[in-house]
Amino acid sequence: MERTFVLLKPDAIQRGLVGRIVERFDRRGYRILAMKMLVPSRDQAEQHYAVHREKFFFSELVDHLTSGPVVALVLEAPDAIVSIRNLLGATRPSEATGGTIRGDFGQTPMRNLVHAADSVESYEHEHSVYFVESEIMDYQRPIDHWVFEPE
Ligand code: CMP
Repeated sequence: MERTFVLLKPDAIQRGLVGRIVERFDRRGYRILAMKMLVPSRDQAEQHYAVHREKFFFSELVDHLTSGPVVALVLEAPDAIVSIRNLLGATRPSEATGGTIRGDFGQTPMRNLVHAADSVESYEHEHSVYFVESEIMDYQRPIDHWVFEPE
């Protein structure tokens, strides 16, 4: 089992897509271990995207992330990191395949609705920007024995 960090960005909330996006995670069987709505501080946004600090879009990205509420999640499943990123689709919505979240709903690279960690190290860093460990639930569901059956 693997955990990943996902963030629904302000454009997802503004466009009324929270339910439709979270439903995709839910119906695929990911275990939701934490889910929180908040308005990120500049410090949180800058920490989250620290690897992009030198990019030309960094300050616009921080402005966007702090412009309104976001929804932060911790999800768990086998290979959660790669499978969630496949479900999101390419960063640039114009390059995202239909059927992916960004392919179906994304508009521009800046407003691509949702972020997900790209490695275990990113998960460790990013989830700690938004959650304390006591906010992350640990529980089992009766369906887990077949949802997460080994391939
Ligand atoms: P995300 O997966 O959250 O990771 C970094 C974000 O930078 C990315 O999604 C985009 O929303 C944002 N971004 C803005 N402009 C660009 C760009 N030109 N190329 C890539 N990412 C961009």
